[in-house]
Amino acid sequence: MKILLINGPNLQLLGTREPGIYGSDTLDSIIGEVKALAAELGCTIEAFQSNVEGELVSRIGEAAAGGFDGIIINAAAYTHTSVALRDAISAVALPAIEVHLSNTARREEFRHHSFIAPVCLGVIAGFGKNSYLLALRALHAEILQKNK
Ligand code: DQA
Repeated sequence: MKILLINGPNLQLLGTREPGIYGSDTLDSIIGEVKALAAELGCTIEAFQSNVEGELVSRIGEAAAGGFDGIIINAAAYTHTSVALRDAISAVALPAIEVHLSNTARREEFRHHSFIAPVCLGVIAGFGKNSYLLALRALHAEILQKNK
């Protein structure tokens, strides 16, 4: 099982970026923990981060042909703005889970709406790096179920 882990804008700054909101783990260390859990579950992770909306769209668009079984995505600020990312997830028709470190529902009003959530299996938000680990467990279970 092969899973694409997408991280959007400004997440390369994790570790120093507003640690009171996002925690002090770096993106590399979070990806390392996701990969360690993936190894336990018997799946592989390919991680991609970009600050450029079109690069994220292209990467998602290539995912089905690239042999991926599912997508975990923290689209960061593009969650709240991007019809293009939503359409990309919808187009590849792979199971996807939206994640956020922070609980976006408890934050500013403009973070309450997600363009992406309606084309995802579900959303996990508010658990810091554990949001990613929970998403991996959920996606792994969903894909196993689907392939039964
Ligand atoms: C975020 C929440 C978004 O609202 C914000 O723009 C981010 C990070 C999170 O992981 O909590 O950049 O996706």
